[in-house]
Amino acid sequence: MRLFPCVLALSGLTATALTLSPSLRPLQAQQNITLGVYSGRHYNTDKELYKEFTKQTGIKIKLLEAKDKVLLKRLKEEGANSPADVLVLADAARLVKATSMGLYQSSSSAKLNQLVPDNLRDPNGKWYALTRRARVPIVNADLVNPASIKTYADLADPKLKGKLCLRNRKSPYNQSLVADQIILRGEAATAQWIQGMAANVSQKFFPKDTPQVQAVGKGTCGVAVVNTYYVGRMLDGRKGEENKALAENVTVVFPQPTHINISGAGVTASSDHPKAALKLIEFLASPDAGKGYAAANLEYPLKGYGGNRILNAWGTFKADGVSAEQLGAKNKQAKALMKANGWK
Ligand SMILES: [Fe+2]
Repeated sequence: MRLFPCVLALSGLTATALTLSPSLRPLQAQQNITLGVYSGRHYNTDKELYKEFTKQTGIKIKLLEAKDKVLLKRLKEEGANSPADVLVLADAARLVKATSMGLYQSSSSAKLNQLVPDNLRDPNGKWYALTRRARVPIVNADLVNPASIKTYADLADPKLKGKLCLRNRKSPYNQSLVADQIILRGEAATAQWIQGMAANVSQKFFPKDTPQVQAVGKGTCGVAVVNTYYVGRMLDGRKGEENKALAENVTVVFPQPTHINISGAGVTASSDHPKAALKLIEFLASPDAGKGYAAANLEYPLKGYGGNRILNAWGTFKADGVSAEQLGAKNKQAKALMKANGWK
């Protein structure tokens, strides 16, 4: 288990606190607060945003970054003594799982209710989406006509026999995609869809999204399903020249409508500073900071498409409107359906 604790120290602020006028006392009080943030994200630009929050509010942040699963386990073990005030997780089903484990407390914020669309936050205020992630087909246009895929259902078309690649069913992203289809099309149609796709897969199911993008780029797969930011990360050069060239061979296809997953955050059940914690979540969901949070990983902000040229070049999509809470609620059913119908 590797953890990455990191204190964002802000010098100079406490030194001036004693000289503040009485009207600034609330700020002075906040300067003594340090929020524990446990995050499944790991981007330097996130840290810049936390620093900006401290600059604006005086509230300090102690950050612990680790994988979602590790954080859930750690929070559970720490119980009421946990130093965490905010828990940031990727994937709707994990946010719902943390809720069912009792790790979040309800909060109420008119600001967040306005900033975060209804279907992208917990009905009881336990968590709020901060970014949107589109999980969509990508094709190698030499092998598969991008126009031939208009919906997720088209991935089961026997014309794609031997051309479709899939990531394995352990992926929470795939589980949420299947949950989404159960909600939109019902269990029987989704079971048939999975069988049809499984029949189109002729090679081993992939362990991750990035190798799928590489395989489509090389032409060893004609079509695969990935979160768009994996293509974006390769296209922007951060994964090296070879990966950039491979991603350039890939066409991103937005089915109509498009399945949207989220990353999000909530105030932990153990938080000693729930008001300050909520303030941080409000800050991260605000249009400016929110764009930065999404842009760090080439995800989509809560509303609109952000300003990134790579994302803009892919065009727009119509989100299917399924609620993130429902994606989590159907997770068990989705997993069972995948297992029973040949999603390895
Ligand atoms: Fe991811």
